[in-house]
Amino acid sequence: MNDPVVLSAEQLHKDFGEGEVLCGVSMQVRKGELVSIIGPSGCGKSTFLRCLNFLEIPDRGTVTAMGVTIARNGGPWRSAEEHLAHRLRTHVGMVFQSFNLFPHLSVLDNVLLAPRVVKGGNAEADREEAMALLEKVGLAKVAQRYPVSLSGGQQQRAAIARALAMRPEIMLYDEPTSALDPIVAEEVLNVMRTLDDEGMTQIIVTHDMRFAEVASDTVVFMDGGHVIEAGPPEVLCVNPAHEQTRRFMRTVL
Ligand SMILES: Nc1ncnc2c1ncn2[C@@H]1O[C@H](COP(=O)(O)OP(=O)(O)O)[C@@H](O)[C@H]1O
Ligand SMILES: [Mg+2]
Repeated sequence: MNDPVVLSAEQLHKDFGEGEVLCGVSMQVRKGELVSIIGPSGCGKSTFLRCLNFLEIPDRGTVTAMGVTIARNGGPWRSAEEHLAHRLRTHVGMVFQSFNLFPHLSVLDNVLLAPRVVKGGNAEADREEAMALLEKVGLAKVAQRYPVSLSGGQQQRAAIARALAMRPEIMLYDEPTSALDPIVAEEVLNVMRTLDDEGMTQIIVTHDMRFAEVASDTVVFMDGGHVIEAGPPEVLCVNPAHEQTRRFMRTVL
Protein backbone atom coordinates (compact mmCIF):
# COMPACT_ATOMS: atom_id res chain seq x y z
CA MET A 1 0.00 0.00 0.00
CA ASN A 2 1.47 3.30 -1.10
CA ASP A 3 -1.39 5.52 -0.04
CA PRO A 4 -0.31 8.47 2.09
CA VAL A 5 -0.51 8.31 5.87
CA VAL A 6 -3.47 10.51 6.86
CA LEU A 7 -3.50 9.82 10.58
CA SER A 8 -0.67 9.02 12.91
CA ALA A 9 -0.34 8.65 16.64
CA GLU A 10 3.10 8.51 18.18
CA GLN A 11 3.79 7.28 21.69
CA LEU A 12 0.50 8.34 23.27
CA HIS A 13 0.40 8.21 27.05
CA LYS A 14 -2.68 8.74 29.21
CA ASP A 15 -3.12 8.43 32.96
CA PHE A 16 -6.45 9.27 34.60
CA GLY A 17 -4.74 9.28 37.99
CA GLU A 18 -4.56 5.58 38.74
CA GLY A 19 -1.69 4.51 36.52
CA GLU A 20 -1.24 4.70 32.78
CA VAL A 21 -4.04 3.31 30.63
CA LEU A 22 -2.13 4.18 27.44
CA CYS A 23 1.55 3.31 27.76
CA GLY A 24 3.00 4.72 24.53
CA VAL A 25 0.54 3.73 21.82
CA SER A 26 1.54 4.40 18.21
CA MET A 27 -0.35 3.80 14.99
CA GLN A 28 -0.21 4.94 11.38
CA VAL A 29 -3.24 4.82 9.14
CA ARG A 30 -3.19 5.28 5.39
CA LYS A 31 -5.81 6.89 3.20
CA GLY A 32 -8.64 4.47 2.54
CA GLU A 33 -7.46 1.97 5.14
CA LEU A 34 -9.95 0.18 7.37
CA VAL A 35 -8.38 -0.58 10.75
CA SER A 36 -10.03 -2.72 13.43
CA ILE A 37 -8.82 -2.37 17.01
CA ILE A 38 -9.50 -5.40 19.18
CA GLY A 39 -8.55 -6.36 22.72
CA PRO A 40 -9.96 -7.22 26.14
CA SER A 41 -12.32 -4.89 27.97
CA GLY A 42 -10.49 -2.13 29.81
CA CYS A 43 -7.29 -2.35 27.76
CA GLY A 44 -7.52 1.27 26.57
CA LYS A 45 -9.23 0.99 23.16
CA SER A 46 -11.82 3.71 23.77
CA THR A 47 -9.31 5.98 25.46
CA PHE A 48 -6.98 5.63 22.50
CA LEU A 49 -9.75 6.36 19.98
CA ARG A 50 -10.89 9.40 21.99
CA CYS A 51 -7.31 10.67 22.15
CA LEU A 52 -7.15 10.61 18.35
CA ASN A 53 -9.61 13.49 18.16
CA PHE A 54 -8.87 14.97 21.58
CA LEU A 55 -12.12 14.08 23.29
CA GLU A 56 -9.53 12.89 25.82
CA ILE A 57 -6.32 14.84 26.07
CA PRO A 58 -3.26 12.58 25.94
CA ASP A 59 -0.64 13.49 28.55
CA ARG A 60 2.23 12.91 26.15
CA GLY A 61 2.65 11.97 22.51
CA THR A 62 1.75 13.37 19.11
CA VAL A 63 -1.30 13.05 16.91
CA THR A 64 -1.35 14.17 13.27
CA ALA A 65 -4.55 13.99 11.23
CA MET A 66 -4.87 15.43 7.73
CA GLY A 67 -1.79 17.56 8.33
CA VAL A 68 -2.92 18.99 11.68
CA THR A 69 -0.38 18.09 14.38
CA ILE A 70 -0.79 18.33 18.13
CA ALA A 71 2.18 17.36 20.28
CA ARG A 72 1.69 16.93 24.01
CA ASN A 73 4.47 17.01 26.52
CA GLY A 74 2.80 16.72 29.90
CA GLY A 75 1.86 20.37 30.24
CA PRO A 76 -1.57 21.92 30.74
CA TRP A 77 -4.00 21.96 27.81
CA ARG A 78 -3.69 25.39 26.25
CA SER A 79 -6.19 27.37 24.22
CA ALA A 80 -3.89 27.25 21.18
CA GLU A 81 -4.06 23.45 21.38
CA GLU A 82 -7.83 23.51 21.76
CA HIS A 83 -7.94 25.65 18.63
CA LEU A 84 -5.85 23.06 16.75
CA ALA A 85 -7.99 20.24 18.15
CA HIS A 86 -11.08 21.98 16.82
CA ARG A 87 -9.47 22.10 13.38
CA LEU A 88 -8.42 18.47 13.61
CA ARG A 89 -11.95 17.40 14.58
CA THR A 90 -13.36 18.90 11.37
CA HIS A 91 -11.42 16.13 9.59
CA VAL A 92 -12.26 13.29 11.97
CA GLY A 93 -15.84 12.13 12.51
CA MET A 94 -16.79 9.91 15.43
CA VAL A 95 -19.59 7.45 16.10
CA PHE A 96 -20.23 5.98 19.56
CA GLN A 97 -21.85 2.81 20.86
CA SER A 98 -24.84 4.82 22.10
CA PHE A 99 -26.21 6.69 19.15
CA ASN A 100 -26.36 10.17 20.74
CA LEU A 101 -29.04 11.53 18.41
CA PHE A 102 -31.08 14.56 19.45
CA PRO A 103 -34.44 13.03 20.44
CA HIS A 104 -36.48 16.19 19.76
CA LEU A 105 -35.27 16.47 16.14
CA SER A 106 -36.21 14.45 13.07
CA VAL A 107 -33.56 12.25 11.51
CA LEU A 108 -33.11 14.85 8.75
CA ASP A 109 -32.76 17.70 11.25
CA ASN A 110 -30.22 15.66 13.22
CA VAL A 111 -28.08 15.48 10.08
CA LEU A 112 -28.72 19.14 9.23
CA LEU A 113 -27.61 20.20 12.68
CA ALA A 114 -24.00 19.27 11.95
CA PRO A 115 -21.95 22.37 12.66
CA ARG A 116 -20.67 22.70 9.12
CA VAL A 117 -24.21 22.80 7.85
CA VAL A 118 -25.29 25.24 10.55
CA LYS A 119 -22.58 27.61 9.34
CA GLY A 120 -23.38 26.98 5.68
CA GLY A 121 -25.33 29.44 3.59
CA ASN A 122 -27.51 27.51 1.17
CA ALA A 123 -30.36 25.79 2.97
CA GLU A 124 -31.64 23.97 -0.11
CA ALA A 125 -28.19 22.59 -0.99
CA ASP A 126 -27.67 21.52 2.64
CA ARG A 127 -30.99 19.70 2.59
CA GLU A 128 -30.12 17.94 -0.62
CA GLU A 129 -26.76 16.89 0.75
CA ALA A 130 -28.33 15.66 3.99
CA MET A 131 -30.90 13.66 2.02
CA ALA A 132 -28.12 12.19 -0.13
CA LEU A 133 -26.32 11.07 3.03
CA LEU A 134 -29.52 9.52 4.39
CA GLU A 135 -29.97 7.78 1.04
CA LYS A 136 -26.43 6.43 1.31
CA VAL A 137 -27.09 4.91 4.74
CA GLY A 138 -30.52 3.62 3.64
CA LEU A 139 -32.65 6.02 5.67
CA ALA A 140 -34.17 8.36 3.06
CA LYS A 141 -37.63 6.91 3.73
CA VAL A 142 -37.50 7.71 7.45
CA ALA A 143 -35.92 11.17 7.17
CA GLN A 144 -38.91 12.88 8.78
CA ARG A 145 -39.24 10.44 11.68
CA TYR A 146 -37.92 10.94 15.19
CA PRO A 147 -35.09 8.78 16.56
CA VAL A 148 -37.33 7.07 19.12
CA SER A 149 -39.38 5.50 16.30
CA LEU A 150 -36.31 3.92 14.68
CA SER A 151 -34.58 0.62 15.34
CA GLY A 152 -31.16 0.70 16.98
CA GLY A 153 -29.54 -0.06 13.64
CA GLN A 154 -31.37 2.78 11.94
CA GLN A 155 -30.39 5.16 14.74
CA GLN A 156 -26.76 4.15 14.40
CA ARG A 157 -26.90 4.69 10.63
CA ALA A 158 -28.43 8.13 11.28
CA ALA A 159 -25.53 8.86 13.63
CA ILE A 160 -23.11 7.90 10.85
CA ALA A 161 -24.94 10.18 8.38
CA ARG A 162 -24.73 13.01 10.89
CA ALA A 163 -20.98 12.51 11.31
CA LEU A 164 -20.54 12.39 7.52
CA ALA A 165 -22.33 15.73 7.16
CA MET A 166 -19.13 17.34 8.46
CA ARG A 167 -17.36 15.91 5.39
CA PRO A 168 -14.66 14.21 7.45
CA GLU A 169 -11.82 12.41 5.71
CA ILE A 170 -11.46 9.98 8.62
CA MET A 171 -14.15 8.18 10.62
CA LEU A 172 -13.74 6.66 14.09
CA TYR A 173 -16.24 4.16 15.50
CA ASP A 174 -16.27 2.96 19.11
CA GLU A 175 -18.11 -0.38 19.23
CA PRO A 176 -20.85 0.89 16.91
CA THR A 177 -22.65 -2.46 16.85
CA SER A 178 -22.28 -3.65 20.44
CA ALA A 179 -25.79 -2.53 21.40
CA LEU A 180 -27.36 -4.13 18.31
CA ASP A 181 -28.59 -7.59 17.45
CA PRO A 182 -26.54 -9.31 14.73
CA ILE A 183 -28.87 -8.71 11.77
CA VAL A 184 -29.24 -5.01 12.52
CA ALA A 185 -25.50 -4.78 13.23
CA GLU A 186 -24.88 -6.09 9.73
CA GLU A 187 -26.73 -3.09 8.24
CA VAL A 188 -24.40 -0.75 10.10
CA LEU A 189 -21.31 -2.67 9.05
CA ASN A 190 -22.55 -2.60 5.44
CA VAL A 191 -22.54 1.20 5.60
CA MET A 192 -18.90 0.98 6.65
CA ARG A 193 -18.20 -1.34 3.72
CA THR A 194 -19.81 1.17 1.33
CA LEU A 195 -17.70 3.98 2.77
CA ASP A 196 -14.64 1.75 2.45
CA ASP A 197 -15.41 1.23 -1.25
CA GLU A 198 -15.58 5.00 -1.63
CA GLY A 199 -12.12 5.39 -0.12
CA MET A 200 -13.02 6.60 3.37
CA THR A 201 -10.36 6.06 6.04
CA GLN A 202 -11.93 4.27 9.01
CA ILE A 203 -10.88 3.01 12.43
CA ILE A 204 -13.27 0.81 14.38
CA VAL A 205 -13.03 -0.56 17.90
CA THR A 206 -14.99 -3.77 17.74
CA HIS A 207 -15.76 -7.10 19.38
CA ASP A 208 -17.01 -8.40 16.04
CA MET A 209 -14.12 -10.68 15.10
CA ARG A 210 -15.75 -11.78 11.89
CA PHE A 211 -16.02 -8.18 10.65
CA ALA A 212 -12.46 -7.47 11.80
CA GLU A 213 -11.22 -10.50 9.90
CA VAL A 214 -13.27 -10.11 6.74
CA ALA A 215 -13.47 -6.34 6.24
CA SER A 216 -10.27 -4.84 7.68
CA ASP A 217 -7.03 -4.05 5.95
CA THR A 218 -5.28 -4.03 9.31
CA VAL A 219 -6.16 -5.48 12.71
CA VAL A 220 -4.54 -4.04 15.83
CA PHE A 221 -4.50 -6.04 19.05
CA MET A 222 -4.21 -3.99 22.24
CA ASP A 223 -3.73 -5.23 25.78
CA GLY A 224 -2.86 -3.39 28.99
CA GLY A 225 -2.44 -0.02 27.30
CA HIS A 226 -0.03 -1.34 24.66
CA VAL A 227 -0.34 -2.31 21.02
CA ILE A 228 0.80 -5.92 21.22
CA GLU A 229 0.75 -6.50 17.49
CA ALA A 230 -0.79 -5.22 14.29
CA GLY A 231 -1.05 -6.69 10.84
CA PRO A 232 -3.31 -7.90 8.07
CA PRO A 233 -6.23 -10.00 9.37
CA GLU A 234 -5.00 -13.15 7.65
CA VAL A 235 -1.96 -12.97 9.92
CA LEU A 236 -3.28 -11.37 13.07
CA CYS A 237 -6.54 -13.31 13.31
CA VAL A 238 -5.23 -16.63 12.01
CA ASN A 239 -1.57 -16.91 12.91
CA PRO A 240 -0.57 -14.15 15.33
CA ALA A 241 3.04 -13.82 16.40
CA HIS A 242 2.47 -13.18 20.10
CA GLU A 243 1.20 -15.62 22.69
CA GLN A 244 -0.91 -12.81 24.24
CA THR A 245 -2.74 -12.35 20.93
CA ARG A 246 -3.22 -16.10 20.51
CA ARG A 247 -4.69 -16.35 24.00
CA PHE A 248 -7.15 -13.52 23.25
CA MET A 249 -8.14 -15.11 19.94
CA ARG A 250 -8.88 -18.38 21.74
CA THR A 251 -11.18 -16.62 24.21
CA VAL A 252 -13.23 -14.83 21.55
CA LEU A 253 -13.51 -17.54 18.90
N1 LIG B 1 -12.65 9.20 32.17
C1 LIG B 1 -12.00 8.24 32.85
N2 LIG B 1 -11.60 8.44 34.13
C2 LIG B 1 -10.93 7.48 34.82
N3 LIG B 1 -10.61 6.28 34.29
C3 LIG B 1 -10.96 6.03 33.04
C4 LIG B 1 -11.68 6.99 32.25
N4 LIG B 1 -11.90 6.45 31.01
C5 LIG B 1 -11.35 5.22 31.04
N5 LIG B 1 -10.79 4.97 32.25
C6 LIG B 1 -10.08 3.74 32.63
O1 LIG B 1 -9.08 3.49 31.66
C7 LIG B 1 -8.98 2.10 31.40
C8 LIG B 1 -9.19 1.85 29.91
O2 LIG B 1 -10.55 2.11 29.59
P1 LIG B 1 -11.11 2.10 28.12
O3 LIG B 1 -10.24 2.92 27.25
O4 LIG B 1 -12.55 2.47 28.19
O5 LIG B 1 -10.95 0.56 27.73
P2 LIG B 1 -11.67 -0.30 26.58
O6 LIG B 1 -12.35 0.64 25.65
O7 LIG B 1 -10.57 -1.09 25.95
O8 LIG B 1 -12.64 -1.21 27.29
C9 LIG B 1 -10.00 1.41 32.28
O9 LIG B 1 -9.35 0.97 33.44
C10 LIG B 1 -10.97 2.51 32.62
O10 LIG B 1 -11.57 2.30 33.86
MG1 LIG C 1 -14.33 0.83 25.13
